[in-house]
Amino acid sequence: MRKPLVAGNWKMNGSSESIKKLLSALIKGAKSVKNAEIAVCPPYIYIPGTAGMLSGTNIVWGSQNVATEESGAYTGEIAVSMLKDFKCTYAIVGHSERRTLYGDTDQVVADRFARALAGGVTPMLCVGETLAERESGSTEAVVERQLKAVIDKNGIQSIAKCVIAYEPVWAIGTGKTASPEQAQDVHAFIRNYLAGQDMQVANGVRILYGGSVNAGNAKELFAKADIDGGLIGGASLKADDFLTICNSF
Ligand code: 13P
Repeated sequence: MRKPLVAGNWKMNGSSESIKKLLSALIKGAKSVKNAEIAVCPPYIYIPGTAGMLSGTNIVWGSQNVATEESGAYTGEIAVSMLKDFKCTYAIVGHSERRTLYGDTDQVVADRFARALAGGVTPMLCVGETLAERESGSTEAVVERQLKAVIDKNGIQSIAKCVIAYEPVWAIGTGKTASPEQAQDVHAFIRNYLAGQDMQVANGVRILYGGSVNAGNAKELFAKADIDGGLIGGASLKADDFLTICNSF
């Protein structure tokens, strides 16, 4: 049985004050969330404060990225040991904004994934196609290529220790959600692809959907057989909306 997970990716948003407010509201509201695990991924600099407020609650936290290296002369990078130091449960790797804006290749994503796992932080691996790729019929090939790079480096068993997030790039921040059927089709493809290598891994791994999930459409998406929760951007910055999404199972 896969426990649903709703994770908020706050991206580069918030301030000490707004985050305190948001977390206070989430802590209160999350007490009555019974059917899903809840996670938030603040900007790095707010992780210590977030950890302080969330420890002892039923909300866990994570980062939005992790360095490919363990330590040393890598100006501006954050190592997995530092994330572990602040008790991060998850590290997002391969978000499409990292891939497209900061040049994270499939290989770099596989390296980040490896580093997170080795450091005891669960990678949340994002995959997904652009609009042009969808329109040219290559959605499955793209998603397969992105998964294969991680599996080639880390082995199929590593997938049992991660969370996958399918995030079609054209649905991110656009208000254009994939229909529940479109999302389910790709989720089923991912699970089948994994099942071709290891049935147990395929059945156990949680596959989240991300891309314009909101309080109004979460229920329909989460009702699909292979959608095990959501990775939420914009709506995760509003406590009421995020909590509604968490209660959509
Ligand atoms: P939105 O929910 O704002 O579309 O963002 C989705 C996302 O990129 C989560 O990682």
